[in-house]
Amino acid sequence: MSSTTTYDVHAIRSEFPILERKVKGKPLVYLDNAATSQKPKQVIEAIAHYYSHYNANIHRGLHTLADEATAAFEASRVAVQHFIQAKHHEEIIFTKGTTESINLIANAWGNTFLQAGDEIIISSLEHHANIVPWQMIAEKKGAQIKVIPIDANGVIDLDAFKKLLSNKTKMVSIVHASNALGVINPVNEIIKLAHQQGALVMIDGAQSAVHLDINVQELDCDFFAFSGHKIYGPTGIGILYGKKDLLESIPPYQGGGEMIKEVTFEKTTYNELPFKFEAGTPNIADAIALKHAIDFINSIGKASIRMHEETLLNYANDQLKQIPGLHIKGDVENKVSVVSFVIDGIHPQDLAVLLDNQGIAVRTGNHCAQPLMQCLGIVGTTRVSFAAYNTKEEIDILIVALNKSIKMLK
Ligand code: ALA
Repeated sequence: MSSTTTYDVHAIRSEFPILERKVKGKPLVYLDNAATSQKPKQVIEAIAHYYSHYNANIHRGLHTLADEATAAFEASRVAVQHFIQAKHHEEIIFTKGTTESINLIANAWGNTFLQAGDEIIISSLEHHANIVPWQMIAEKKGAQIKVIPIDANGVIDLDAFKKLLSNKTKMVSIVHASNALGVINPVNEIIKLAHQQGALVMIDGAQSAVHLDINVQELDCDFFAFSGHKIYGPTGIGILYGKKDLLESIPPYQGGGEMIKEVTFEKTTYNELPFKFEAGTPNIADAIALKHAIDFINSIGKASIRMHEETLLNYANDQLKQIPGLHIKGDVENKVSVVSFVIDGIHPQDLAVLLDNQGIAVRTGNHCAQPLMQCLGIVGTTRVSFAAYNTKEEIDILIVALNKSIKMLK
């Protein structure tokens, strides 16, 4: 479907077998897409097809199956390159997911380049995956973590960021779109300001990659991380993008097969990019299937999906705001299709159980962002997040279920 044709959400839904299932006797209403999206048939079939037809190890075999598997694996790398508009395909490193991508840079770059007294800046909006790896390396190297504050809506304080930046800043690692609130950070400006101070910038794109057009060259970020499973692809496969010269300057993260050029007992030389960072047999099947997820997104068009999700987001916002005592957290214009809310006198976990009883999947809790919840002075939220296949009718079902649950809990 091109972005100019009508958005046929029912045709899109028919691509997702799981959407036909029932939960507690009710049709599944899946509104937990920020945690993981569902998978279209072509992704599921690509995995089965790989194992049924050309399962082989890659880059080393001299037989037909190995050639086919290698070609499909490398085709996926090129698809990812185009998906985020990277300059070189060897700037795309396959990892387990966003978490491993951030850990890779925190460890491999941090161990070599961080010194005592250096500073790493993150924001109050970060997922634990963009806090803990930096804390671990900072502790090891005697570096300091500085945190950009936010306002009550989750909007970053750019003036405070400017004040935190100094010649001690070596890395700014910042989330593109908050998983807990959906708020989009002004990464263009953050990257420019950080670069003016000579600091590198890592973008956690776990929530942005599926919704926003990503052009890493235009962004000029040094590193960009995201996960396959949040872009309609499989779990266990993720991406680390890094500028070629930077990746070349960073030593390997793990040692083993594939990442070497030559090994003797005395000395090892390392392979070139991207293989230097892909030790061992990678997750071949899921990397191959990731290309099918990207093809799925491209077949509809990110702009069309975004427009559809924005309609859902606005509709959900309007409907939710009519519920007495419900407060949306991160109620800003510039956000991805995530709505996070609290309801006076109701614990999010109690609400989740009642919604599940009505076939509705949402996420509740701190969303792996405990410091953010502390900043907002709450224990957690109920989070509703939309994907290409969600409908207005599902929001109506949610609103009826919410009203019913609130009556039961009050
Ligand atoms: N990071 C994922 C979420 O936000 C798991 O739900």
